[in-house]
Amino acid sequence: MRLSVLISQLFLFLILIFSEKIVMAIDKSDPSTFNHQYATVNGIRMHYVDENSSSKKPLLLVHGWPDLWLGWREQIPFLVELGYRVIVPTLRGFGETDAPDSPEEYGVGVISKDLISLMDHLEIPTVTVLAHDWGGLVAWRFAQFYRDRVLNVGSFCTPYLPVPRQYVSLEQTVQALPNFKYQLYLVTPEAEKEMNENFPAFFARIFRPINDTVGPLIDPNTGTLVANRPVVPKSDAIPQKVFDYYVDAYTKCGARGGLNWYKQSKNNYLQCKDLEEKLDQPALMTVATLDKALPPAMSAKMGDYIPNLEKHTVDGAGHWILWERPTECNDILKDWLKKVYPINSSPKL
Ligand SMILES: *[C@@H]1O[C@H](CO)[C@@H](O)[C@H](O)[C@H]1NC(C)=O
Ligand SMILES: *[C@@H]1O[C@H](CO)[C@@H](O)[C@H](O)[C@H]1NC(C)=O
Repeated sequence: MRLSVLISQLFLFLILIFSEKIVMAIDKSDPSTFNHQYATVNGIRMHYVDENSSSKKPLLLVHGWPDLWLGWREQIPFLVELGYRVIVPTLRGFGETDAPDSPEEYGVGVISKDLISLMDHLEIPTVTVLAHDWGGLVAWRFAQFYRDRVLNVGSFCTPYLPVPRQYVSLEQTVQALPNFKYQLYLVTPEAEKEMNENFPAFFARIFRPINDTVGPLIDPNTGTLVANRPVVPKSDAIPQKVFDYYVDAYTKCGARGGLNWYKQSKNNYLQCKDLEEKLDQPALMTVATLDKALPPAMSAKMGDYIPNLEKHTVDGAGHWILWERPTECNDILKDWLKKVYPINSSPKL
């Protein structure tokens, strides 16, 4: 009798150890080791990663183009280790999330609604948002749309820009911001076609740390992203399983949904024009000095709209700062979160 009790306790002990191992085994170079979930929100099926759901301090991580939730792979296990719940959706138009063909079904107001619907689905009343690239535009506006539910906002590369009070076309935007000139090509059918036909070559070119780049996004001679340019091997900075995941996800979904994000000047204006300009929430802005698409100068005036702004500069970092300089990014996040969103202030259970 006592032996059987002992044996069953031993089993229980082993099962506990084993399940703990399963829960904790995030391998950032293997996308299959993350906790993948799906929900129907705002009329679409959305894929998201949800780690450490027992934590009462949720973070929402928002990616850009041409990216997926996986762009946050260096931050997810780090933030979980700090005690946060980490929710990382694949946005409308990308990967395993639905990607309506029509650009009419996008816009930063629609995406914000997707995200708040995901929070509703998960019964999360308030959240802190972190973002990169297009995700940054979403995060700033999301914080303006849902002032009571977004506690803090942190962005990498993407500055807060005031809400346009009149419609500004993409062509006019490019005149004011020549660093956005590449977007005039991304809205063409040719861009979609060459991406769809060349995903491995496209990601091999594009996913490179700044000290290992192979030319500009768009070749000044050919006017293309990949077509008629030399095929280059993928950078060693990208683990093979990560690279394969991107190619596979984009091959299944196609380029159109992501490129629809560049066709939103009108929708973004109409959906956001009545928002208040000022952002009251504590905010974090981290610029990468060598990001050609989103140069640091763009964020110079942010303090005029955001009184509670903390700014950091990562010298020598490029656009893919999140996985190119993960230690610096994570240290910045850790220090800022400790101030604005500390784990130990969570209600005692
Ligand atoms: C998840 O969050 C909880 C509560 O904050 C924390 O105690 C725990 O260590 C976290 N889990 C992991 C695997 O780090
Ligand atoms: C780029 O920089 C990283 C880290 O600073 C280094 O590990 C890597 O070897 C460098 N790559 C090249 C091609 O210089």
